[in-house]
Amino acid sequence: MRIAAVSDIHVLQDGSDTLLLTEIKERVEEINPDVFVISGDISDRLDVLSHSLSILHCANCINLFVAGNHDIWFEEGGGPGSLEKYSRLIGEVCKKNGFSHIPDSPVVKGDYAFVGSMGWYDYSFRREDLDIPMQNYMQKEYRGAVWYDLFRVDWSFTDTEATDLFNKKLEYDLKTISEDIKHVIYISHHLPFRDLTIYKNRLPWDFHGAFMGAESTGQIIMSDERVRLSISGHSHIRNMVSYTNLVALTAPLGYGRPDSKDLDEFVKDAVAVIDLDGKEAKVRDFVKGDLSEGLPFVSSRN
Ligand SMILES: [Fe+2]
Ligand SMILES: [Fe+2]
Repeated sequence: MRIAAVSDIHVLQDGSDTLLLTEIKERVEEINPDVFVISGDISDRLDVLSHSLSILHCANCINLFVAGNHDIWFEEGGGPGSLEKYSRLIGEVCKKNGFSHIPDSPVVKGDYAFVGSMGWYDYSFRREDLDIPMQNYMQKEYRGAVWYDLFRVDWSFTDTEATDLFNKKLEYDLKTISEDIKHVIYISHHLPFRDLTIYKNRLPWDFHGAFMGAESTGQIIMSDERVRLSISGHSHIRNMVSYTNLVALTAPLGYGRPDSKDLDEFVKDAVAVIDLDGKEAKVRDFVKGDLSEGLPFVSSRN
């Protein structure tokens, strides 16, 4: 089972990322995977998401997408809300473009199953030693630094409720997949393991660390010995950790945009290649860290 994975492309709305998207698709075709995974954060605009997926779609493999928090942000000026986007519209956009939205239903290939959801955060990744009151996490604001979901996610769940819902769905999926499934790949946007989070000993960066994921999700994955691999996004600093039976990684591209002459190398670094041979996950030439460091940045609000 060969998997190609990337996340957090944060596609610009003006069409100027077409070359980048084409380059990613060509790289994926070169990798020739069984499954291509995109783990969230393409665009808050459904038309941009749809157009991007139409370019990214790889003809000879299974194409999977999971929404990220930016994908469920309601659009500037209104439009559908976060819950409607997550539970219905993003799935429709995926289907139209040959992708499966993995939260809608697990995808099975042979004795491998791909399960997952967007995942969420419950502040369990917070740095307790910073002594920031829980109220600040709940209000997503600390000393003027704001976690932007505050303004753009409009569902009525608290963050703990959202995390619980996604966890329950994950438990349900793991329980109900066929008994023939021997190997499970978990796909999410938010991080299931604190170890994947990078802290920098500075604020507001480490305050924002609390919004990266939830430890309870990782515990569910860990307790099912069929789960061999976890692929997520959200943190724009690429990371990989290995546990006894499980490899967990993130494959974000991020907000940086290189010169067109360097695009080839940038995309090669961005798309992770994982060969899963039964229990063993081999990750080829994985690039850790922030691919966007030192590059011109696109807007951080799309
Ligand atoms: Fe992102
Ligand atoms: Fe994100």
